Amino acid sequence: MNNPFPVIGVVGTGAMGRGIAQICAQAGSRVLLHDSQAQAGQQAIEHLKSTWDKLTEKGRLSPEQARAHVACLQVAPELADLAPCDLVIEAIVEKLEVKQSVFRQLEDLVRPEAVLATNTSSLSVTAIASALKHPERFAGYHYFNPVPLMKVVEVIAGLRTDAKVCEQLDAHARCTGHTPVHAQDTPGFIVNHAGRGYGTEALRIISEGITDFATVDRILRDQVGFKLGPFELLDLTALDVSHPVMESIYHQYFQEPRYRPSVITAQRLAGGALGRKVGRGFYTYVEGKAQTAAEPAVPKVADLPPVWVSSRAVRRAELLQLLKDLGAKIETGTSPSSQALCMVAPLGFDVTTVAVVERLDPARTVGIDLLFQDSATRRRVLATNPATREDMRDAAHALFAQDGKAVSVIRDSGGFVTQRVVANMVNIACDICQQQICTPTDLELAVTLGLGYPMGPLVMGDLLGPDNVLETLFNLQTVYGDPRYRPSPWLRRRGAIGLSLTHQEPA
Ligand SMILES: NC(=O)c1ccc[n+]([C@@H]2O[C@H](COP(=O)([O-])OP(=O)(O)OC[C@H]3O[C@@H](n4cnc5c(N)ncnc54)[C@H](O)[C@@H]3O)[C@@H](O)[C@H]2O)c1
Repeated sequence: MNNPFPVIGVVGTGAMGRGIAQICAQAGSRVLLHDSQAQAGQQAIEHLKSTWDKLTEKGRLSPEQARAHVACLQVAPELADLAPCDLVIEAIVEKLEVKQSVFRQLEDLVRPEAVLATNTSSLSVTAIASALKHPERFAGYHYFNPVPLMKVVEVIAGLRTDAKVCEQLDAHARCTGHTPVHAQDTPGFIVNHAGRGYGTEALRIISEGITDFATVDRILRDQVGFKLGPFELLDLTALDVSHPVMESIYHQYFQEPRYRPSVITAQRLAGGALGRKVGRGFYTYVEGKAQTAAEPAVPKVADLPPVWVSSRAVRRAELLQLLKDLGAKIETGTSPSSQALCMVAPLGFDVTTVAVVERLDPARTVGIDLLFQDSATRRRVLATNPATREDMRDAAHALFAQDGKAVSVIRDSGGFVTQRVVANMVNIACDICQQQICTPTDLELAVTLGLGYPMGPLVMGDLLGPDNVLETLFNLQTVYGDPRYRPSPWLRRRGAIGLSLTHQEPA
C-alpha cells in the first residue's frame, strides 16, 4: 500500500505526539517534530530511540530497522520548519483557540495540497476548521493512548472536509498497521461516545444502593467477559480525565439523559480519589495492586425450602433444569405452597413489580438474572426485594451456589446489573448508527479495538436477542420513569422486525 504522506509534521510531542511520531516513522515517513517547549522535540526523539532499543533487545526489531526509524525523525525548532510536510498532525493542549491559532499559521506555511489533521478528543473538528481559509483540507485523526498498541484511529470529517482527505488518512492509517474507522464530527466521535453506557449505568446502580462497586465489577467481568469492571476502568483512566469527559459529552448533547454523569464521580474527583495513579480511587492500591474485600461467604443452610418458579420467568425451562441439576425440591403447582421460595426471572423489571403483578408473597420472592445465565457465565446474580426474608435470601444464595459457581446477591433493581448496563450500551450503539455517525461495521471495530470489549455492542445485542434488549429497556423505563432508557429507533425497528442490529439499509 502506498503511503500518501512521505513527510509528516507532528505538533506537540507529549504522550500522543510521541506515539504518533513512532508509528509514522515505522511506516517509513520522514517525521518532523515541533513543540512549543524548546527541549520537548529532542526529548521525544530520545524517548523513541530508547523504545526502539528495547524492542531490538527483545528481538522484535533488527538493529538496522531501529537505526532506519531513528533516521526518519528530526526536530523542527520553528513551526515554519514544517513547510515541506504533506501531512501535519496536531497533538497539543486541548484548547480551541490555541489549536485554531496553530492551524492558521500552518495553513500559510504548507503547500495547498498538504493535509492538516487534529488529534482532538473532545473539540469539534468543524469548529477548529472554522478558523481556516481552506477547511476542506482539514480533518480529525483521533488516536488512542498508547498509540502504538491501540490499533484503531478515528478519521473524522468536519462539515466541509473534502472526502479525498479522509481517503488519504484512511490509506495512511493502513500503512501504519492501524484500522481506520470513519465518523461524523459529533461529540465523543465513536469510541468515547459508545463508551458512555458502561460507566454511567454502573454509577447509577451503586447510587441506588443496589450493591457495592466491587460487586458490580465482579458481575460484569464474570457474566459478560469484560477485562475490567467499570470501576476498575474508571480507576485506570483516572477521574480527572473521565469525569470531565462525562460532563462534556452530556452537555454537548444538550443534557441527553442517556449520558447523564453522576454526583459520585464529581464528589470523588473533588476529594482527590482520582484512581490508580494516586493510589486511591474506588479501590485502594498497595504497590499498584487493587485491594479488594473478600466476597460474602455462602450461607450455611441446613434445610433448603422447596422452590416454585414463576410461569412468566424468562428462560423458565433452563431455570427448572438448573434447579433440578442443583438438587432442589421443585414445586409444580400453579401457585406456590406457603413454605416455598418463589423464584422469578424478570427482564428489565424489578423483583418487587413482578411479585406484585403475580400476587406472590414478597417475603419469599427472590429474582435471578437468566438473560446472562449459561454454561459460559461464571457468576449467578440473585436479587431480593425490600420485603425478602433473610432466611429466604440465604436459602436462595446457598441453593444457587451448590455447584460451586459464584453467586452475588444484590438489592432490587430493574434489570439486575448486567441487563441494565448491557442494554444501555447496546442502545447507545444503536443510536450512534441511527444518527449515521458511523456504519455498524466501523462501530463494532472501533469499540472492540478502542475499548477492548469482548465483542461489539451490536453483536452483543444480537446474541441476547434484539427483542430481549428492547423489552429490557421498555421495562426499565416503566420501573424508573427515566427517558434515559427509551429505546433508539434503530433498536425498536430491528427488534420488532427480527433483524440483526448490524443490518444497515441499502443506500
Ligand atoms: N492522552 C490521551 O489519552 C489522549 C488520547 C487521545 C487524544 N488526546 C488528545 O491529544 C492531544 C494531546 O494530548 P497529550 O495527552 O499528548 O498531551 P500532553 O500534555 O502529553 O502533550 C502536549 C504537548 O503539546 C505541547 N504544546 C502545547 N501547546 C503547544 C503549542 N501551541 N504549540 C506547540 N506545542 C504545544 C506541550 O508542550 C506538550 O509537549 C489533546 O488534544 C488531547 O485531547 C489525548
